[in-house]
Amino acid sequence: MIYLDNSATTYPKPSTVSAAVTAAVRSSANPGRSGHAPSLAAASSVYSARTAAAEFFGCDNEERVIFTPGCTISLNMAIKGLLKKGDHVVVSSMEHNAVMRPLYKLTGEGISFTKAEIVPCDNDKTVDSFRKAINGNTKMIICTHASNVWGLRMPVERLCALAHAYGLLFVVDAAQSAGIAEVDMKNGYDAVCAAGHKGLYGPMGTGLLILGEGILPDTIIEGGTGSSSADLRQPDILPDRYESGTPDLSGIAGLKAGIEFVKKKGTDKIFAHELALIQYLYSRLDKLPGIKLYTPFPDPEFTLPLLSFNIEGLSSEEAALRLSKAGIAVRAGLHCAPLAHESMGTAETGAVRISPSVFTTGADIDRLIFFIKKML
Ligand code: ALA
Repeated sequence: MIYLDNSATTYPKPSTVSAAVTAAVRSSANPGRSGHAPSLAAASSVYSARTAAAEFFGCDNEERVIFTPGCTISLNMAIKGLLKKGDHVVVSSMEHNAVMRPLYKLTGEGISFTKAEIVPCDNDKTVDSFRKAINGNTKMIICTHASNVWGLRMPVERLCALAHAYGLLFVVDAAQSAGIAEVDMKNGYDAVCAAGHKGLYGPMGTGLLILGEGILPDTIIEGGTGSSSADLRQPDILPDRYESGTPDLSGIAGLKAGIEFVKKKGTDKIFAHELALIQYLYSRLDKLPGIKLYTPFPDPEFTLPLLSFNIEGLSSEEAALRLSKAGIAVRAGLHCAPLAHESMGTAETGAVRISPSVFTTGADIDRLIFFIKKML
């Protein structure tokens, strides 16, 4: 099989990731709960993963790295933990439902939001669009680092500066970018939410919430932390405050191995490899009558390496099904991001998305092009 659905989850995983998961399942006890040797070893393994993640994201304090079961949970924790009745939020027109559904739910609790239209490949206009959407009640800007449908990259560094100039919080959804583009807490982000199972090559069911200095969201989950157990109040200390319950030790061990894999390969090299493949695919598809492309030629400044398109006369789902029968795995439909499709006029049709990984080869892309031509 040729797997080109890496924006949903990277596959295959590096062998070091599978080995770390297996080793953790075989050998671990509950970390931070007991004083016996296997429990202490497990706690030390979690700590080393936390340190690796902190270093990877330029976070000076590893206690501000929270392990979560995924980017969706991280976003829920940031959004629901930081917003109060009466607050207004500005989001981009490319947000995923992981941002939009929690926000939509909060509209029932007196929280409102405005969508700022992204102007592809024009960061000045995009930043202006956010500025115009800010009002007297705005508390936060939330922006995806890159659209999971169009690969369009948002000027998050500039948006963070804009937010802070207005005294607002800035939350980055790094689901698609972590491991492929630099996500650096030194830019002053108040919260970064990342998936562990995509560009970081960790197992599914892993994610990160990285909090900026002084940011202490309210909790949305409380429970046992192995610390301050006589106190019924949730502890304030980090990371305990946000990590109630037994952690996914094997997932965390796998995520650490994934981060180490990416670090060794180099985010810039992974990006260059994937971008070259997507640029090649774009230039070939652009020449084919009957193919509808929606975005400009992938420019490293404005895109992350993935490409969505449609084939005239064929629904995106049907095209993906035919590719699947030919042994090529891609994702079609709305990609849980209806806003991104509305912005591009594909809310009715969806699109076929191709997303490579570090393991994708030029031969894989050639085979894809062969089958696309056959469908045409
Ligand atoms: N959000 C993931 C995707 O884009 C699952 O496919």
